[in-house]
Amino acid sequence: MNKNAGIVGLGVCVPEKILTNFDLEKMVDTSDEWIKTRTGIEQRHIADENTFTSDLASKAAINALEDAGIKPEEVELIIVATITPDMFSPSTACIVQHKIGAVNAAAFDLNAACSGFTYGLTVASQFITSGYYKNALVIGAECLSKITDWKDRNTCVLFGDGAGAVVLKPVDEGRGILSTHLGADGSIGKHLTVPSLALEPQELEKRDPENPRTIWMNGSEVFKFAVKIIADATLAVLEKINLNIHDVDAIVPHQANLRIVDGAAKRLKFDNNKIFTNLQKYGNTSAASIPIALYEAVKSRFIKNDDLIVLVGFGGGLTWSSAVVKWYK
Ligand SMILES: CC(C)(COP(=O)(O)OP(=O)(O)OC[C@H]1O[C@@H](n2cnc3c(N)ncnc32)[C@H](O)[C@@H]1OP(=O)(O)O)[C@@H](O)C(=O)NCCC(=O)NCCS
Repeated sequence: MNKNAGIVGLGVCVPEKILTNFDLEKMVDTSDEWIKTRTGIEQRHIADENTFTSDLASKAAINALEDAGIKPEEVELIIVATITPDMFSPSTACIVQHKIGAVNAAAFDLNAACSGFTYGLTVASQFITSGYYKNALVIGAECLSKITDWKDRNTCVLFGDGAGAVVLKPVDEGRGILSTHLGADGSIGKHLTVPSLALEPQELEKRDPENPRTIWMNGSEVFKFAVKIIADATLAVLEKINLNIHDVDAIVPHQANLRIVDGAAKRLKFDNNKIFTNLQKYGNTSAASIPIALYEAVKSRFIKNDDLIVLVGFGGGLTWSSAVVKWYK
């Protein structure tokens, strides 16, 4: 019988440098009070000019492998979820494979923006449950500071850099990843964009022409989408295995905005105190936010063995993704 994939190792890495809301007050027309009341964010970590996504991803990966007791050369698959790859090619996953010495691993990147980690978890778990691979490293890693317009107060207060990694292995029945759910709606992708090769006129006109390859967002549209989709994706992934919201011990959502989390909790009629947040310290780190939050939720014993947890992501694409995990490590 096929086994579930379970998370057997966790690791994180965030850059040392902290940028506070007070620092931002000196850079754009904003205030600590505005940022805190509208988002909940108090500070974020920012990589220095010589640090890139693969550096943060590699350190998080090594920490996760140590936690799992697996040597780099034993790793069979590496997936890096990111929208800030070091290069178009090689993929960040291949760079990480080389940096950590995972010489026997297949490696590729996955772009589903802030939903990327749970997308990656879903893809990797298929390889484990089918028996194709015996283990997998799933990493969410970003250097969003490098695609941020530091003159745009609408976006520059929101994002941060970081990486989180997990190791997956087959686990006993009833434990690990019990269900996953993925979705996308490209027709509303225009609400959150970062241009690459194509610099279309409608994208150019929203940006500083000197620095056009930066994040642009229609904040209120993304906000409304996020509140609805957290609730919908949570219920959908539970329904797949005939569970409901009352069965859930904790939710670890993508960390974007405390008001989004509050709105989703109300919609789900779910106790806010059972939703883990740490965006106050890190801002929105896109694909890295869920694994960093999961790491801290486990270390602080917010999540304990035998808890039923839901991971839920949403973001650029627009995309969404969720997973039900019976925690045991
Ligand atoms: C971005 C966001 C915090 C803005 O909050 P909001 O309550 O929707 O605020 P609004 O967009 O209505 O803007 C209100 C005013 O604040 C201003 N403002 C925007 N950023 C500001 C800042 N950093 N400091 C001070 N004022 C700011 C706006 O210019 C606007 O001013 P105006 O009314 O004079 O035009 C919110 O929309 C949001 O969190 N959206 C989702 C973002 C997200 O999480 N995206 C990632 C998903 S993966």
